[in-house]
Amino acid sequence: MIPRSFIDELIARANIVEIIGARIALKKAGREFKACCPFHTEKTPSFWVSPDKQFYHCFGCGAHGTALGFLMEHDRLPFPEAVEELAGMLGLEVPREAGAVPARREGATLYELMGQVARFYAEALARNERAREYLARRGLDRDVIERFGIGYAPNAWNELLRRFGGNEEAQRQLAEVGLVIAREVPRDGERYYDRFRDRIMFPIRDARGRVIAFGGRVIDQGEPKYLNSPETALFHKGRELYGLYEVRQSRAPLTRLLVVEGYMDVVRLHQFGVPCAVATLGTATTPEHLKRIFQLVPQVTFAFDGDRAGRAAAWRALQNALPEALEGREIRFLFVPEGEDPDTLVAREGREAFERRLAQQALPLSEYVVREIGAQVKTSGADGRARAAQLVRPLVQQIPQGIYRRLLLERLAQAFGFQRTPEGLAELLEVDLRQPAAATRRPLGAGRGSLVRQAVRLLVHFPRLAEETDPELIARVATLEEPGAALLAGLLSELREQPADSTAQVLERWRERPESAHLARLASAEELVPSLTAAHNELQDALQRLLQEAERRSLDRLLEKDRASGLTAEEKLELQRLTSSLAREPRRAQAS
Ligand code: UTP
Ligand code: MN
Repeated sequence: MIPRSFIDELIARANIVEIIGARIALKKAGREFKACCPFHTEKTPSFWVSPDKQFYHCFGCGAHGTALGFLMEHDRLPFPEAVEELAGMLGLEVPREAGAVPARREGATLYELMGQVARFYAEALARNERAREYLARRGLDRDVIERFGIGYAPNAWNELLRRFGGNEEAQRQLAEVGLVIAREVPRDGERYYDRFRDRIMFPIRDARGRVIAFGGRVIDQGEPKYLNSPETALFHKGRELYGLYEVRQSRAPLTRLLVVEGYMDVVRLHQFGVPCAVATLGTATTPEHLKRIFQLVPQVTFAFDGDRAGRAAAWRALQNALPEALEGREIRFLFVPEGEDPDTLVAREGREAFERRLAQQALPLSEYVVREIGAQVKTSGADGRARAAQLVRPLVQQIPQGIYRRLLLERLAQAFGFQRTPEGLAELLEVDLRQPAAATRRPLGAGRGSLVRQAVRLLVHFPRLAEETDPELIARVATLEEPGAALLAGLLSELREQPADSTAQVLERWRERPESAHLARLASAEELVPSLTAAHNELQDALQRLLQEAERRSLDRLLEKDRASGLTAEEKLELQRLTSSLAREPRRAQAS
């Protein structure tokens, strides 16, 4: 256990420019430094290092982090070793906290708990013959079972509860990560029961390899076939891709991803030597998935089952992919023959034939659109063309201006016999065909989001602002019900008590907490506020408006209740207070 205060000091002393500069060539660019990104292949630099924030960020692939994060990613060091390395460079000795025995469960983070449970399931698999036999029948080899950490949840109602739920706090943690479910009526003194029983367990890992959820398959037949972890603080299924960590671990050059539907498909594709397969987790492909994918690679192929459900899923994926169809990206769709899925297909025909199929039979986006529209428009001639135009208009409008839009229009003109140039067709479909203005940095900071988000973002960029914030104001923020208000209040009070100098310090203090990824994203977003004074004003303004809006909502609620059923004496007082408070501060104009 390394004391938190030491990590804080380390980050305060370290110079990220020196640390990264010792590993890749950095070039000064204004107040920052830039380079070609060490985490993806590129010819023009989009990797930036900020000495002010002690933070790096790649606008191409989205990689970002602190000096410690860089050592972990670049030198592939686990956290404690990265700390040792950095301390060594600064000539500091890493102190160890006495008495903090890591084996004790109480202090363990939710991530550690998930890791321990995954190991327990893996060991349980080794002891259960029926589960092992099932996996053997499905053709999984030892190596791939190990690589994916596949395990088995024993057939019992309280196995996890007994092993990992030694006290109330531990039980609460198990419930928080979705591993146990609360009983309506306690039984034999037990208030929870295990969610997963007698199932093959697939750990779902985040990009850093931490277990954040599980998918559990019944052995042979049964309903539901797969049971998945619920959404928790660690797991948001609309964002995660099963297998992404394993794809990165494979160390094959990361230039493309194959998106499939099932856990089994991913595992088997990896086993057969197609280590670029990932799966969405029992949901449609979301816009968030697509953003993540294109932050990593320029080429993506979706492989769907040939049945009706597969076709419907493909069409949804297409719709979400349209806004991402930018120059230099390749988006394709492969339909697996009816009655098969990528798992059975790759097993039957082998890696080479499967790769050939991918190369030859996956439809480019424009082809897929033409085929689908063609299937829906039965008549030829003017009627058919009018109908086709009607169907494709909303699709074409979703595609950003640029080469993809033009290609699709060309294909459509050809396929449906529009006697028009792409320009003429563009006019008919009410879309713009001009090339967009040359893109500069990606507009990551675009759209500021809610007031809470704005305030959190300002604090991440300028942590010292917390010191100038009135504690009474902070206490009031803590009572708000807005999403994120607790995080905002937490940041304000912790950073007031223990000032941080840089963005990196804030991120390191939050490293092990569930909101860390959110904060890191905000740190990567471009900073829209130029100076500390401007940031100070914006933050105070955002906080005032936040509280004012909350008061206004309470006022509305009370007025409503007054009309409906009358108010208690206490509520009347509150109404008076709110009315005079809001009268003192007339609604401010939205800051632009
Ligand atoms: P499939 O039924 O295609 O699963 O569902 P699969 O991975 O090919 O599994 P096997 O080969 O029958 O063992 C595709 C995905 O949909 C989600 C899972 O993520 C699954 O991998 N799913 C499916 C569920 O979440 N729950 C279910 O009951 C079924
Ligand atoms: Mn399958």
